[in-house]
Amino acid sequence: MTSGGKLPAVRIAVLGAGVVGSQVVRLLTEQADELAARVGAKLDLVAVAVRRPARHPEIPVELLTTDAAGLVARDDIDIVVEVIGGIEPTKDLLLTALRRGAGVITANKALLAEHGPELYEAADAAGADLYFEAAVAGAIPLIRPLRESLAGDRISRIMGIVNGTTNYILSAMVDTGMGYQEALAEATRLGYAEADPTADVDGFDAAAKAAILASIGFHTRVGAADVHREGIAAVSAADISAARQIGCTVKLLAICERVSGVAGSTAPGVDGRDGGEGVSARVHPVMLPTSHPLASVDGAFNAVYVEAEAAGRLMFYGPGAGGAPTASAVLGDLVAVARNRVSGGTGPRESSYAALPIQPMGQVLSRYHISLDVDDRAGVLAAVATAFAEAGVSISTVRQEGRDRDATLVIVTHSAPDAALAGTVDRLAELDSVHQVTSVMRVMGDLR
Ligand SMILES: NC(=O)c1ccc[n+]([C@@H]2O[C@H](COP(=O)([O-])OP(=O)(O)OC[C@H]3O[C@@H](n4cnc5c(N)ncnc54)[C@H](OP(=O)(O)O)[C@@H]3O)[C@@H](O)[C@H]2O)c1
Repeated sequence: MTSGGKLPAVRIAVLGAGVVGSQVVRLLTEQADELAARVGAKLDLVAVAVRRPARHPEIPVELLTTDAAGLVARDDIDIVVEVIGGIEPTKDLLLTALRRGAGVITANKALLAEHGPELYEAADAAGADLYFEAAVAGAIPLIRPLRESLAGDRISRIMGIVNGTTNYILSAMVDTGMGYQEALAEATRLGYAEADPTADVDGFDAAAKAAILASIGFHTRVGAADVHREGIAAVSAADISAARQIGCTVKLLAICERVSGVAGSTAPGVDGRDGGEGVSARVHPVMLPTSHPLASVDGAFNAVYVEAEAAGRLMFYGPGAGGAPTASAVLGDLVAVARNRVSGGTGPRESSYAALPIQPMGQVLSRYHISLDVDDRAGVLAAVATAFAEAGVSISTVRQEGRDRDATLVIVTHSAPDAALAGTVDRLAELDSVHQVTSVMRVMGDLR
């Protein structure tokens, strides 16, 4: 930190000036006086690294550089804000900044989910701050509430809609009855989906966020590879309509839970009862009762529902992406890290003391909604029920639709392990009377 004028100055470099970075630069410039008053130091933007300077006429040319590596190595930069995205070269850029003690703020969920531990260790070793509020759910304050406000509580579950693209697509399917491809095409046309939507629709983006949320919520290192991931490409208009018939809507949820009975765990277990405490982290579509607070989160909005032992149920809701909303979260981190530097301290460090094991997906308990096309004749229901019983899956309700030779059976199960359900589906597929298992989807919560 260098001094200048009445207030000391904190010197800042921004890496990237795209959707988010351009808004960070704008807000940092427009709100300079207010931010200085809040921090107790001037926030001096000294450089902005981009790939193509000619594309950034709004940024004073003397601030622009294409040499991000040179910038992060400069001793006179106190805080580096990374809004480039991706793993390379950002990982090395941030490691360089952290190792020389600069504070780092990033919105990069993919990097944190894959290389978080390396970054946390570098920050720890150098006594530097690493903040990432913008990496999960854009503008919605979530990391700090989980890491600080709830630090005295015991979180049992974090469940959220953390990807606006997939929520927009599913909402469009629910509202209009259109199929997945049609809804995706509309989302692309309106700018809610990228030209290559893989990271969103296949659940990679949500899985990276789930890894971050689970790590913070359960004081355990959870990486992207630990998160079971299913996207929304297989969700059909028929699934949506089947969900409606049981009082549900379909959402892609990131679910992070404290669970019991996990093999190899030495932790005492939820409530100290069952032994084998662990963490389940997963992303998949679910049929969610319309009465659930997350069910009414529509369009590109995000929301995260947190259950904690003492606090009870909390809901965080708002814009999960977009330039200005995400820049708001980045600026909040910037003020916090700058204040830490002014006061000579650092913020909260990574906390992974619990080191809980990850529950394998096969052990995860869920209820399921299954639709099968079957022969409409005597004995079929009994054969289907036997297939469920043999796999250890108990049936809650059965509905039959259609007459004459073919019928559709719609079955909702009681809670069963994922592996048992997979075994059931295999058995069903072997039955002569079953033409096709047309849909299998997990159901969350109590049905009406
Ligand atoms: N967009 C959102 O709504 C949102 C929400 C939450 C989190 N995030 C996260 O925020 C980060 C940035 O996202 P974004 O949407 O702002 O991305 P973006 O619009 O693609 O912008 C990326 C910026 O990085 C610059 N850049 C790329 N490679 C570079 C390099 N090697 N050296 C210097 N600059 C380089 C680009 O420069 P040029 O402009 O010159 O090409 C561009 O300005 C990502 O981690 C993303 O996951 C985004």
